[in-house]
Amino acid sequence: MAIQFYQNISDEIKGIFKLDTKETSYVMGVVDSEGFLGHIYYGSRLNDYRLAHVLRVKEAPFVPSVNNRDRGSFLDSFPMEYPAEGLGDYRESCIALETRGGNTGLSLNYVSHKITEGKPALLGLPASFGEKSVCSSVEILCEDAHTGVQAAFLYTVFEDVDIITRSVRVINKGNEELYLTKVFSACLDMDNRDFEAVSLHGSWARERHIQTVPVSHGKLSIESVRGESSHQDHPFMAVKTKGTDQDHGEVYAMHFVYSGNFKVMVQNDQFDQIRMTMGIHPEGFKWKLGPGEEFQAPEVVMTYSDEGLGKMTRTFHDFYRNHLIRGAYKDKKRPILINNWEATYFEFNTEKLIAIARQASELGIEMLVMDDGWFGNRFDDNRALGDWIVNEEKLPGGLKYLVDQVNKLGLKFGIWFEPEMISPDSDLYRAHPDWAIAIPGRVGTLSRNQYVLDLTRREVLDYTYESVAKVLRSANIEYVKWDMNRQLTDIGSAYLPAERMGELYHRYVLAVYELQDRLMKDFPYLLLENCSGGGARFDPGMLYYSPQIWCSDDTDAIERLKIQEGTALIYPLSAMGAHVSDCPNHTVGRVTPFETRGHVALAGTFGYELDVTKIPAQDREMIPEQVAMYHKYNDLVREGDYYRIASYSENRYYDCYGVVSKDKKEALYTFVQVLNRPNYHSRRIFFKGLDPMKEYRIEGEEGVYFGDVLMKAGYLVQNMWGDYKSRLIHILEVS
Ligand code: DGJ
Repeated sequence: MAIQFYQNISDEIKGIFKLDTKETSYVMGVVDSEGFLGHIYYGSRLNDYRLAHVLRVKEAPFVPSVNNRDRGSFLDSFPMEYPAEGLGDYRESCIALETRGGNTGLSLNYVSHKITEGKPALLGLPASFGEKSVCSSVEILCEDAHTGVQAAFLYTVFEDVDIITRSVRVINKGNEELYLTKVFSACLDMDNRDFEAVSLHGSWARERHIQTVPVSHGKLSIESVRGESSHQDHPFMAVKTKGTDQDHGEVYAMHFVYSGNFKVMVQNDQFDQIRMTMGIHPEGFKWKLGPGEEFQAPEVVMTYSDEGLGKMTRTFHDFYRNHLIRGAYKDKKRPILINNWEATYFEFNTEKLIAIARQASELGIEMLVMDDGWFGNRFDDNRALGDWIVNEEKLPGGLKYLVDQVNKLGLKFGIWFEPEMISPDSDLYRAHPDWAIAIPGRVGTLSRNQYVLDLTRREVLDYTYESVAKVLRSANIEYVKWDMNRQLTDIGSAYLPAERMGELYHRYVLAVYELQDRLMKDFPYLLLENCSGGGARFDPGMLYYSPQIWCSDDTDAIERLKIQEGTALIYPLSAMGAHVSDCPNHTVGRVTPFETRGHVALAGTFGYELDVTKIPAQDREMIPEQVAMYHKYNDLVREGDYYRIASYSENRYYDCYGVVSKDKKEALYTFVQVLNRPNYHSRRIFFKGLDPMKEYRIEGEEGVYFGDVLMKAGYLVQNMWGDYKSRLIHILEVS
């Protein structure tokens, strides 16, 4: 049994919950006196549940307690499973409310629990899933007797993949309406062990760079109040013991299955205890909860690794591939696409697209994606969002004609939308100015000359859905790129009443989920790729709807090394939208070999983003080879175990990573020499993930080596001359 409850443990502890995965244990205790749920242990798997002696219930200096001094639960030192605000735990809280009378404070105390097989869905939210045979759940119900507020904590244990997920449902059992001003989804209290925090930060075109900093006293918080998960911060944090690297050391990680405002925080307190919390950002959040109503907070995915960051990475990859990504393309090779954005920007027409498609089909490319600019008056990015009607000046004969022609050339057809937006210069805005999110009377803040639609209004949501669906029904469209090119500001809705205005941010995210859910139900064969000005909404929430997400608008192979390293820290390679583009690169002006661009894009979904009719002939001639390379390696890249061998972000000269098949019969390592150095024309690298006892050969070379030789003694990458050069090393078991 993965979840056990043991009763009547000691005078102080009335029950212990023990959650076990294959290699980890998570233990909580219920304090007898007040019924607080305390955190006891998370780490490598334990045989025994008798851990009551380590739950800190004793008095600490200058710390408030609900009862008198000789009882348990001194709130500012007690390791709380889900801390509430206002009654004496001064650390970061997980939940806060306001009653109608303006009072705050609550105390959540154990009432009951229920253990079940499988995992219930979360209403309206994306969440991981699993059959009854692979996961089990416990819902622990706690209550604040004073307000009648209940919180149901759902923990699900995915035994085989070493993942525990958490979420919280708040129920108003009282007689009065109240306002939730904060509802986080998870908390992890532990003693500090010289922890360092790992997070992902960035900006447009340089998303998800890895950052590691010491966890010092005070709070470190990573957050977004931009209405989306953002380019800038990522809803992820890991704390690791000092010195932890890819292969050694302890890591505790949390990842948020949500696409809106978030806050993830680590705090080192006065007693050198650390608290990690994760949830919806409380800024701009105020949720009215009437009697009998419920609020469902999104899910947090947690894992623990005692074999460094590499094991954490592989755990997340397996988990997302098997328990979050869905749809027709879940475990399937994706068509190699060519997207016309960097090829033409807004200057294209049917003739141009057909010319690209014709050339592409001769080279083995499998799908043409028509990007921004095909609708309304969209001749540049200043107008027409919302007017989802084909621009027949650009596409004479309409969409169906174009799609049919492309299909005749043997290519599938995909299309770009930005459904959540409205341009002030659009027929839609002229007809419905109140459909934009705006503060009445205030001149709205524009970004890329557009506003965000108020999707909390049912009519707006329905119009938005129908705009997309109608186009999809009109021709044989097999792929959608769903873009979102501005972050939210001016939070105001002409529809929501004043007391619900604090719900807009979250309701907006729920509406996006509803739209994509409907889309996937009505068009189940569709390949959906989410995108947000590059990778600003690359998060597990969106991954639930689309098996791939555009990683970044920066397609330069060298910039991509950092972006893809950070992304692959948590996401499977099959999810990372990656394309070969033209040079000089449109974002940084760098010129890299076409071969290197292909090798780097191979670590993602793989495709092209260039005008194939105009690129240099020698580059074009390489495309059939790259197409063959994709077909040869994609199963391995999509399904294999990922190993990080060297990081260009750390060493400044070269990058190396590999994927190894689950049966360890095959591996592919990618080496990129970013900058050459005198006397480094050959470099020894140490492969990872092979079977030490298997014999391997390296494709294209003489010799047979045991796995342990290749991993411990290494392999010499030779004759690397010049900058930005790359090599693939394909290793096969000798049978
Ligand atoms: C931002 C995306 O990331 C690009 O790939 C492209 O689709 C543009 N938007 C189009 O406006």
